[in-house]
Amino acid sequence: MNLETNKIAAAVLTAGIIAMTSGFIAGILVHPHKLEQSVYKVEGVGQAAAPAAATGPAPIEPIAPLLAAADVAAGETQSKKCTACHTFTQGGPNRVGPNLWDIVGAKHAHAEGFAYSDAIKNKPGNWDYEELNQFLANPKAYAPGTKMAFAGLPKASDRAALIAYLRSLSASPKPLP
Ligand code: HEC
Repeated sequence: MNLETNKIAAAVLTAGIIAMTSGFIAGILVHPHKLEQSVYKVEGVGQAAAPAAATGPAPIEPIAPLLAAADVAAGETQSKKCTACHTFTQGGPNRVGPNLWDIVGAKHAHAEGFAYSDAIKNKPGNWDYEELNQFLANPKAYAPGTKMAFAGLPKASDRAALIAYLRSLSASPKPLP
């Protein structure tokens, strides 16, 4: 064997060893195991394979597809369910709940001087459309420990209308999703 062949043989051997050991180490580090159920549920897919879904809370319908056609006036009617606790006007006061002018896209716990629960204060991110959807469908499920004593709006079309109304309460409404 000449030197070149030796080098090639050594290289092939080294590559093989690296491949083997890295696979072995990855196996130790990653501990692959199967999810008990799929994390993201797609309606109509995998339902039979995940019977646990039947016992949990019903999945909340995503709001984005409904917003474009949502009825802002119907949303204003829905907002009557909120006015016992919230004002909606620009610069309106906080009541039992915070003022909700320009809430779409605002950070969680957005109102100055309102004593929020830790549940809302510690939520990362902003009130984007889907966050509002989840919260308004079931406030206590979205933010366990929230002070908002409101059962939620179970109908997706009601939430879409209301969120479209909330979006309109702004000097520059956020773009639709
Ligand atoms: C019984 C009183 C009450 C009703 C009714 C109510 N809320 Fe609230 N809302 C609250 C309180 C209190 C908070 C503060 C929650 C916390 O700190 O946990 C809150 C917080 C919120 C927030 C978060 C605001 C922020 O700055 O992070 C939104 C959004 C909201 N409410 C929307 C609504 C909408 C829309 C309705 C009507 C469908 C509604 N609420 C009905 C009392 C109420």
